[in-house]
Amino acid sequence: MASQPRLKMGLIGLGRLGTIRARILAYQQPKIELVAVCDTKPGTDTWAAENLPPSVRYFSDPEDLMTNAGVQAVLISTATATHAPLILRALDLGLHVMCEKPISVDVATTEEVLRKSKSKPELKFLVPFSRRYDESYRAAKDLVARGELGDVHAVESSCLDQQDPTGFFVTFSAQSGGIFVDMGVHDIDIGRYYLDVTKGLANPKKQVDRVFATGQQAVYGELSRYGDCDNGWALVEFANGKVLSIHLGRTLTNGFEGCTRVMGTRSHAVINNNSAVNRVEIRDAYGVRTATTPDAFVLYAQSFLHDLAEFATAVLEDKPLSCTPDDAYEAAKIATALQYSFRNKVPVFFDDEGLPIMETKAAN
Ligand SMILES: NC(=O)c1ccc[n+]([C@@H]2O[C@H](COP(=O)([O-])OP(=O)(O)OC[C@H]3O[C@@H](n4cnc5c(N)ncnc54)[C@H](O)[C@@H]3O)[C@@H](O)[C@H]2O)c1
Repeated sequence: MASQPRLKMGLIGLGRLGTIRARILAYQQPKIELVAVCDTKPGTDTWAAENLPPSVRYFSDPEDLMTNAGVQAVLISTATATHAPLILRALDLGLHVMCEKPISVDVATTEEVLRKSKSKPELKFLVPFSRRYDESYRAAKDLVARGELGDVHAVESSCLDQQDPTGFFVTFSAQSGGIFVDMGVHDIDIGRYYLDVTKGLANPKKQVDRVFATGQQAVYGELSRYGDCDNGWALVEFANGKVLSIHLGRTLTNGFEGCTRVMGTRSHAVINNNSAVNRVEIRDAYGVRTATTPDAFVLYAQSFLHDLAEFATAVLEDKPLSCTPDDAYEAAKIATALQYSFRNKVPVFFDDEGLPIMETKAAN
């Protein structure tokens, strides 16, 4: 039997998520051949040599990988602020691109990337949102599609990270764009996924009426230096009357919790309300306990396989993707508006072009 062609991919970024992706690409993707990896940080070459097959070449310069490794596609898993220039360069070189969320920390750069991607329709461009590739989220989507929830009018979503005693994300905040941009973009996307936000619009460009965010530095006071918070709440009013509410946090002590309630007129679907890592109950002097899922990497372990498999199929067989560049753009606009709302203590309205009205440029 003739062997199927495999997609030759390069991975840029070998950090917390990149190292997980590298192993998946090397060992768990029958349609992908990982040919090269890259990171600018010293010592990552050793990690690659010790953990990846010897056939995988290591580069310390992403330009070198993109031009000299013979790849057809790249996965960009670097710090957020570096995404846009790498995506633009890869598309210019004729490479298919998958990039971790978000595209950028500001709307103008996101628009530039979108324009470039639209000018190259022959190249696939995927920003995968993990929840869209999770089986429970997909099962809830099927319920919505079959009308079993009735009219879905609101979504409530949360993403609560385990408290990190090293405070890694405090300095990470300078690059990440803040909690609403970095973390909230997932909840915004999943809200848009379930709420039919383009239905019944008088002006199709304008999906959102206004947003509002507030937050606290409950544990990590230093976050105020970066215009950021460790607990944030957001309200998004869509132009067709649907409502999304979000709680984001980085101070939970038991583990990671990320739950979504999809509210319909006939019934609600609640996804991941139980954050137990497995079904083992410990019975001891404290009572009956279960261990919590430690982080998003464990909760969405399967999503990180599914999105890559979908991307490979999309490129090799010219199939559509679950997340479009427009989804990433719409989520980015809302996320940026929420970060602005938190920083400036104001609601942010959207104009008839569908853009958030943020007057103090320095703060967005
Ligand atoms: N569920 C999800 O979708 C999800 C989860 C976690 C992280 N992310 C996203 O993935 C990205 C990476 O997150 P992380 O937690 O792994 O970050 P990280 O800081 O642990 O790793 C980033 C790595 O990229 C490398 N790097 C930075 N600039 C580079 C460049 N120009 N060329 C090559 N290498 C470069 C760094 O040396 C580092 O090793 C972020 O954008 C984050 O928002 C997405």
